[in-house]
Amino acid sequence: MHDIPDMRRALLRWYDEQGRTLPWRVRPEDRARGVVPDPYAIWLSEVMSQQTTLPHATPYWRKFLAAFPTVTDLADADRDVVLSMWAGLGYYARARNLHKCAGVVRDEHSGTFPTDETTLLTLPGIGPYTAATIAAICAEEATNIVDGNVERVISRVFIYEPPLPKGRKGLRELAGTLVRADRPGDYGQALMDLGATICTPKSPTCLLCPWEKWCVAHAKGVETEYPKKIKKVKTPIRHGYAYILRHADKVLVERRPDGGLLGGMLGVPTSAWGEKPIDHSAAPMKRNWEKVGDVKHVFTHFELRLEVFVGEVHVMEEGEWTADISGFPTVFRKVVEAALKTKSS
Ligand code: ADE
Repeated sequence: MHDIPDMRRALLRWYDEQGRTLPWRVRPEDRARGVVPDPYAIWLSEVMSQQTTLPHATPYWRKFLAAFPTVTDLADADRDVVLSMWAGLGYYARARNLHKCAGVVRDEHSGTFPTDETTLLTLPGIGPYTAATIAAICAEEATNIVDGNVERVISRVFIYEPPLPKGRKGLRELAGTLVRADRPGDYGQALMDLGATICTPKSPTCLLCPWEKWCVAHAKGVETEYPKKIKKVKTPIRHGYAYILRHADKVLVERRPDGGLLGGMLGVPTSAWGEKPIDHSAAPMKRNWEKVGDVKHVFTHFELRLEVFVGEVHVMEEGEWTADISGFPTVFRKVVEAALKTKSS
């Protein structure tokens, strides 16, 4: 029923004709002209596009490649500069690992980005998905590329029942049964494109799908029921206070300690974040804090609600002050924006 060689042929034909053109992608026709992908540029694109959309990640990719044309340039850059340039992309552990990984490639691989899956897996921040994708695209290694898009396509075509996340390992193995040595990079990217453009979560356009005739979920009219998922518990809510000490157009900034959420990133002082609103005992310095607004921000595992307080000072006290919040992660940009709104009032 599932003729795998036929399915692969249909998918690769679709990719040749309909696959997306992405700024870092070497399309089959370019490859035929002798263009080879740069593993450093591919790595950047893959790390940046995790957990976000390609249109959101693309300007960051351009900015990084312009500032750091090679992996050694990135390794030699100041880490704080790299973190500031990442601000807005979220998941800041990835930015810290990005810089660390560049250092390892410079120091232990003579500045040449590895392209084999086994070596890639030894690098900081490179997990199974990224290693498989770089090795397939850059070294034509027959790896098993599985991201959320691939999970959706495969679970529908085969109506894979075990719910995620528990069923993830089996689904991955099922996806692996379709992998062959022929054009592995194009095959993996075709499958991801199919999931991103046709086999979408809520309204797949099955009539345009090269796998329509093999898709069991489609035959049964149950496409959107897959992949099956274990019901999520409600996202917990955490509360805290953010304190903006303001002098003219500058605010007092604080770099968050490494390790935790937003580690290494710039922001403004906050109280601890807890399950219940906490008191002001942690407020930096005793002064008349004025409440100016509330900010809500959703992280992967919880929703953060910050009450924003502003204190005006006439002299800048010790510390780092800035009027430029472009290096702030999104949650702190929202906090500062909430405070600046009140300025004109
Ligand atoms: N999403 C992230 N990386 C991708 C790639 N290389 N091809 C298609 N979709 C992607």
